[in-house]
Amino acid sequence: MLELIQIDPFDGVAVTLWWEIYAAAERADRGADTAVWTRHESQRELQQDTETIDRRAYLACIDGEIVASGRLALPLRDNLRVATLGVHVAPELRRQGVGTAVLTALETEAQEAHRDVLKASASWPCSAGDDGHGVPGREFARRHGYALALGDVQSRLRLPVAEAHLAGLSAEASTRSQGFSLRSWIGSVPEAVVGGWAELDAAVDTEAPVGDLEIEPASVDIREIRRSEMLIAQQNRRSFGTVACDGGGRVVAYTQLVVSGDDGNAYQWGTLVRREARGHGLGLAVKIANLQLLQEHASDVRAIYTYNAGVNEHMLAINRRLGFAPSELMAELQKRLA
Ligand SMILES: CC(C)(COP(=O)(O)OP(=O)(O)OC[C@H]1O[C@@H](n2cnc3c(N)ncnc32)[C@H](O)[C@@H]1OP(=O)(O)O)[C@@H](O)C(=O)NCCC(=O)NCCS
Repeated sequence: MLELIQIDPFDGVAVTLWWEIYAAAERADRGADTAVWTRHESQRELQQDTETIDRRAYLACIDGEIVASGRLALPLRDNLRVATLGVHVAPELRRQGVGTAVLTALETEAQEAHRDVLKASASWPCSAGDDGHGVPGREFARRHGYALALGDVQSRLRLPVAEAHLAGLSAEASTRSQGFSLRSWIGSVPEAVVGGWAELDAAVDTEAPVGDLEIEPASVDIREIRRSEMLIAQQNRRSFGTVACDGGGRVVAYTQLVVSGDDGNAYQWGTLVRREARGHGLGLAVKIANLQLLQEHASDVRAIYTYNAGVNEHMLAINRRLGFAPSELMAELQKRLA
């Protein structure tokens, strides 16, 4: 009989057990050197005091032995029908029905929280093929009625990128983006641009291709941006931001890179250009400026990872020009409960 125990995010021993199963399960399927959240980053996120999301982490036990870890994320302000689930089974305990038992228990929790749109994801190396045939997470999802809602590509840029290459791209972008000004920084978003930053950050998930995902725009909330900055600092991460503003000072494009202090990588977070400002090379301009800032101030970072929908040709083309190459595939999965 499976017992699902919600852990206290301040209980370091429980968090370690939970995180170790997550990391081992991800590495088993994606490769030993795949980029996973560190234990410290995960614990700080679970501990975060936020009004926008209810995050729960679980250990699953059978006869007193820990066999799996689970997670549930319930948005509290928008997307109120959604629950995002995660199931991780220790590699040596697979194909015995453990994953199914954990998933069933998490689905029940989600239903009790009045959620009927369930989301999850599964990743695999590109070498396993586009449809993820034989990939445990993808097959498990198929078996349990989770459909592919959006196919993503993880791409990696090994650093450093030659400054001459960046300077050439930057010169090209600046001829197209005349009339707009760029502003970059490390750390907190400057007060003068945080309103525009918050608008773009709230819109990015719905402005990028969504495929069949059921998703509403997030709420615009400057306080939440500030809370996210506090969490970034607590996680030993560093944020690099760049915006483009029009002649009137309105923020029309943004991009953010977040460096993990623990694993030596940087991760691309949102990038968005307002619809009315598209066609001026601003997507390329902000990404190059941000990358130049990163290389100048975090020269020890070895690689940047980014995720894009496979159909997001514009962003993929920009990333290819910077030197990104596909490193993994990820399926965003979704099931609607009747
Ligand atoms: C996906 C995962 C949770 C499955 O755990 P599990 O305990 O092996 O799952 P179950 O034993 O309950 O498998 C249920 C069914 O899923 C399918 N399945 C699971 N793993 C599979 C695999 N490697 N190949 C083919 N089918 C598979 C099968 O239909 C299986 O039934 P069967 O064994 O009777 O054929 C586990 O492999 C894992 O932790 N992977 C890494 C994280 C992940 O991708 N999580 C899923 C997204 S939340």
